Amino acid sequence: MKSPPKPTVPLPPHVEAPAQPPDPAPGPASLVNLEVQNLFPTPVAGGMLAEAPQINAALRAVILEREKGHASTQHSNLGGWQSTWDMLDWAGPAIHQVVEAAKQLATKLTADRQGNPIPIQWKVNCWANVNRSSHGNEFHSHPGAYWSGTYYVDDGGIAGNPELGGEFEVQDPRGVAPVMYAPLLTFATPGGLTLGSSELVSPRAGMMVLFPSWLIHAVRPYHGAATRISIAFNLSL
Ligand SMILES: [Fe+2]
Repeated sequence: MKSPPKPTVPLPPHVEAPAQPPDPAPGPASLVNLEVQNLFPTPVAGGMLAEAPQINAALRAVILEREKGHASTQHSNLGGWQSTWDMLDWAGPAIHQVVEAAKQLATKLTADRQGNPIPIQWKVNCWANVNRSSHGNEFHSHPGAYWSGTYYVDDGGIAGNPELGGEFEVQDPRGVAPVMYAPLLTFATPGGLTLGSSELVSPRAGMMVLFPSWLIHAVRPYHGAATRISIAFNLSL
């Protein structure tokens, strides 16, 4: 016996299933306990000598007198007059006051490798610099010393008028590498704005600056009409 035909059931119209939205991209994971360390800092110390008025009057007189009878030495200076490195022998007691303060600061900023204070009998050489209009110093370091520094006898009016130039300029010891790939970007951390570039210290009469001797530095040209007088010194072991 023949079986009856199966009823034909119309198929429902094909309806495509709505496309499922893709899974949303996951958001950032939560970073906790963030700590940003600024490793390998470079100390550049600056301070004022309380006895500056008396010291500067004495040094100014003896340095300008020395300049009259002695030719300039030539190292990194771009113009100007630079004395010999034996200033302790001819500049009177005021230079010893300056140098003793520098030695005290250097000892304060120096430790042994365990981080403990250590008394050091610093050897010193120092010299005078007289800069007039357009004079400066090109980038250089001070080989053969641990700390180097500057003491400003006369800022030549720089402190009151930044347009006169004459700033002390320190080059980033990390070099230019940090800015080679994306020079428009920098680190959003302290000191980031001068990454791969240089920092400026504005001199003022009576100020002492102390920095590691290996730190590359320069003196920007002085554009005033007065006389900018400074003492430079090296502290070695
Ligand atoms: Fe120098």
